[in-house]
Amino acid sequence: MIGRESELRGVTESLTSARAGRGGAVFLVGEGGIGKSRLAEAVAQQAFAAEMTLMRAAAVRSARWCRSGP
Ligand SMILES: Nc1ncnc2c1ncn2[C@@H]1O[C@H](COP(=O)(O)OP(=O)(O)OP(=O)(O)O)[C@@H](O)[C@H]1O
Ligand SMILES: [Mg+2]
Repeated sequence: MIGRESELRGVTESLTSARAGRGGAVFLVGEGGIGKSRLAEAVAQQAFAAEMTLMRAAAVRSARWCRSGP
């Protein structure tokens, strides 16, 4: 991953806080293709390496998709 040092630093601090029992939320906001998912993946790897429990969720584009889902 190229760059994103300051963003990674910020999220790493949040992970450290979470491990100390201080919850929080981090929003990755940016235009399409700017690297939000890539950054989230890097954070997930950090959390995994720290043996934290990870939960992953995704929004779906349409309610119709839900009805035909499992
Ligand atoms: N910091 C980075 N260094 C190198 N490649 C990157 C970086 N960030 C993103 N990329 C690459 O750029 C492409 C788009 O990134 P990504 O899918 O994370 O964007 P996104 O913001 O999640 O887009 P969308 O809004 O469409 O979901 C991917 O191929 C990803 O691997
Ligand atoms: Mg994305």
